[in-house]
Amino acid sequence: MGLFRRRKKRFQVPSERVPEADHVRVVALSMHFEGKRVLREIDLGIKRGEVFVVMGPSGCGKTTLLKHICGLLPPDLGTVYLDGRDIYLLPEDELNLLRRRMGMSFQGGALINSMSVLDNVKLPIEESTSLPDALVTTQARIKLDMVGLLHAAHLLPGDLSGGMRKRAAVARAMALDPEILFFDEPTSGLDPIMAAELDNLVLKLNQVFRITMVMVTHDLASAFTVADRIAMLKEGRVLALGTRDEIQASRNPEVQAFIRRSIEEAGEQGVDFTKYLVR
Ligand SMILES: Nc1ncnc2c1ncn2[C@@H]1O[C@H](COP(=O)(O)OP(=O)(O)O)[C@@H](O)[C@H]1O
Ligand SMILES: [Mg+2]
Repeated sequence: MGLFRRRKKRFQVPSERVPEADHVRVVALSMHFEGKRVLREIDLGIKRGEVFVVMGPSGCGKTTLLKHICGLLPPDLGTVYLDGRDIYLLPEDELNLLRRRMGMSFQGGALINSMSVLDNVKLPIEESTSLPDALVTTQARIKLDMVGLLHAAHLLPGDLSGGMRKRAAVARAMALDPEILFFDEPTSGLDPIMAAELDNLVLKLNQVFRITMVMVTHDLASAFTVADRIAMLKEGRVLALGTRDEIQASRNPEVQAFIRRSIEEAGEQGVDFTKYLVR
């Protein structure tokens, strides 16, 4: 930790370079695991209230980037600002307080199978507040209602369909009314109809509550449906960053190859992809 903090100081960016408008700012972020570079000098800003998607093929570093943005993984170099504050220079207790304002719905973010859906959503509230049980229950039920699962509150996760489990995980991520919600591959393992439902839920929650959303996905259809802006990653680098139209119009051959491959794969699965591309 000591070494890490010393290193960080050298790369600290003067505060005037951190735009106020950005909810999250990633600056010159680099990371390696066991000698392999996984993230290479990533710079990007996420605006308050937008749906920001990190897209790219499996293994390109999406989950690693997300963990850095959540404050879960100190980088080798560079850093992450949340509301203009360098989260990796915060004392542990302040970082923990900050994390409470973030909701995380992670890849395979398992619900606890021996607990009802309602108890799963109550858990984060119970762990970080001392509210009376009736109030915690009310809060949790509101969240379940928001994702359309109030009727399933008493069921065990194992009794739910794949799509319902994902929605329950979203309800749990929202338990503490986060300012920012993180999703890691929320549509993975879902059939195209359930995936589209989850995309719609994400959009609805964003529009109604203006929560900043950061979603990681390798699913182009999902990215093009929900994103205000997309960062396209390859081998730990940002290849392109922009709106859906800007990504589609990108002249970067690797971006175009990714789009082409995604359309071909969708075609093989019988998904009509053209609706995402033709306006
Ligand atoms: N804790 C870790 N230790 C070693 N290697 C890791 C670790 N986490 C991720 N990696 C490697 O980093 C690369 C990027 O991983 P990841 O961020 O999970 O990619 P993605 O989410 O885009 O599929 C992969 O090659 C993966 O094997
Ligand atoms: Mg991943």
